[in-house]
Amino acid sequence: MSALAADSIPLPSLRPMREADLPEVMAIEQRAYAFPWTQGVFRDCLLANHPAWVLVQDGEILGYGVISVAAGEAHVLNVCTAPEVQGRGHGRRLLRAILQLARGRGAQRVFLEVRPSNKPAIALYHDEGFNEIGRRPRYYPAKDGREDALVMALELLADED
Ligand SMILES: CC(C)(COP(=O)(O)OP(=O)(O)OC[C@H]1O[C@@H](n2cnc3c(N)ncnc32)[C@H](O)[C@@H]1OP(=O)(O)O)[C@@H](O)C(=O)NCCC(=O)NCCS
Repeated sequence: MSALAADSIPLPSLRPMREADLPEVMAIEQRAYAFPWTQGVFRDCLLANHPAWVLVQDGEILGYGVISVAAGEAHVLNVCTAPEVQGRGHGRRLLRAILQLARGRGAQRVFLEVRPSNKPAIALYHDEGFNEIGRRPRYYPAKDGREDALVMALELLADED
């Protein structure tokens, strides 16, 4: 690719997820997870006004993050990068962006569940400061029955002005 062409590709940017994004989001969700969310789950999240971002480059969605916030606590509901563009920093950027949204809505603590088999996600969460605080037995559907969830938590520091 010529330097000129490389220069003309816009950098990925974040914007709120909207209903019209759902077919593209679902296409990624189905490629990225063995047990994907349905479109109805995403729609419910938007209707419930859960903060949700998409990361977009050149009009194409690269990934998304969804979080819920209530009573000073946030819950990471979904963080996902399209399989073809994983390993390029997009997941970390999305996670940081939804944590910032949670902070902006007054969250002091963030929780999430993750499959113990999901090493890339666990590595990302540890790296961003999450600690394991417990396990939910048989939480997820799995190929051979059920899989536990690791529960991880992060204390959010208030923004320094
Ligand atoms: C987890 C996920 C969001 C990470 O997104 P990504 O864009 O690939 O992640 P990044 O490129 O930002 O990497 C951030 C960190 O994640 C970890 N990571 C990413 N891919 C990894 C891999 N294949 N193996 C181990 N660690 C990995 C590393 O700690 C990495 O930091 P580093 O680059 O400094 O080593 C992505 O793998 C994904 O969408 N998976 C499918 C959906 C999913 O499981 N979501 C989490 C549900 S709990």
